Amino acid sequence: MLPGTSLAAGTAAKAKPAVPFYGAHQAGIATPMQEYLQFAAFDVTGDSIAHLRKLMATWTRAAAAMSLGRQVGPVRTGSKPPADTGEAIGLGPAELTVTFGFGASLFTSNGKDRFGLARHRPAPLVDLPVFRGDQLQAGISGGDIGIQVCANDPQVAFHAMHDLIKLGSPVAVPKWLLAGFGRTGNSTVQPLPRNLMGFQDGTANIVVENPAALDAFVWAAEPGSPFWMRGGSYLVARRIQIALTRWDETSLDGQQKAIGREKLSGNVLPDVPKNSHIFLASPGRNNNQRLYRRGYSYVDGVVAGATAPAAGVMFICYNKDPREQFIPIQGNIADRDGLSAFLTHIGSSIFACPPGVTPGGFIGQELLG
Ligand code: HEM
Repeated sequence: MLPGTSLAAGTAAKAKPAVPFYGAHQAGIATPMQEYLQFAAFDVTGDSIAHLRKLMATWTRAAAAMSLGRQVGPVRTGSKPPADTGEAIGLGPAELTVTFGFGASLFTSNGKDRFGLARHRPAPLVDLPVFRGDQLQAGISGGDIGIQVCANDPQVAFHAMHDLIKLGSPVAVPKWLLAGFGRTGNSTVQPLPRNLMGFQDGTANIVVENPAALDAFVWAAEPGSPFWMRGGSYLVARRIQIALTRWDETSLDGQQKAIGREKLSGNVLPDVPKNSHIFLASPGRNNNQRLYRRGYSYVDGVVAGATAPAAGVMFICYNKDPREQFIPIQGNIADRDGLSAFLTHIGSSIFACPPGVTPGGFIGQELLG
């Protein structure tokens, strides 16, 4: 039992339950979407595989504890700083999940095999191409390790990221971080969340209750992926800014044609335009390939000189092989579908998320040894 556990014992009865951390797959992938996101990418300093191993072991232990609503270490520390920062005490697990992924730069960076891992780089962990219309910013793209934290309480999500950053220092330095929200507080009356453009999002998505679809499109398997990725998945994250002012000034008809669905009902338009988002992203136009989308909305201040928030979608999707799924689909819609006129992709990252672990193990152990 972790030190400091007793502080969580008084957790209110109404606290939301825990999502099991341990298992064949990492939690936070085939987990029903929580309402809040904290996503950060880290760069690993130095080139010591021992440090990397220790980092992943520490993070795994902390993630397992926090998933149960526990602290990562003692808080009653007297003359020393508390080991756990404390802001989630009493909030319960709130269905927290922490999902880890390794970026391409962990395997090779500037042609250098930093940790002796280059030969284990999975073929599907490609460097994403630059798509038409991309305006990517290096500072909010990539990273050696990505961590997706999701929870049904924003402070529980923040706490997890806060303590993971603290525990990772100085070996892992946060490169970028973004907070997101999916469903709104009244989500119990919303069959599906609406994105910031006011459209239902997720209608034609893969659902986590469909293991056959998860096997076909989400879980990595040999021979396409190496043994250490078996049961893992590839996460693509794209920070996509929405030109909200322009969108808000677009007629309902124009908005619906851009998406290909009715705004209020979410139904497919009777005569779906051939350049609509759903037409060009659909499996029928993409070699029957699908994506499991698990993104969140975000707000990040205002665009300079604009009359609307700098807001958009932290698009996150999981795929078995992005070379067959995300890349061709994005290649098909980028700057071509009706929605593209309102979107700017400003951040781009890809991470190989290893499978789950059993107690005592750590995420990525089969890779790092
Ligand atoms: C700001 C960015 C985006 C917004 C606002 C958006 C919005 C939507 C909406 C409203 C739908 C229809 C409802 C649904 O089935 O979920 C949809 C469907 C879909 N989107 Fe997006 N999307 C965005 C970016 C992307 C990206 C980057 C991709 C992939 C590269 C993508 C792939 C898909 C797919 C595969 C579907 C389902 C198509 C079908 O089979 O009907 N979306 N999106």
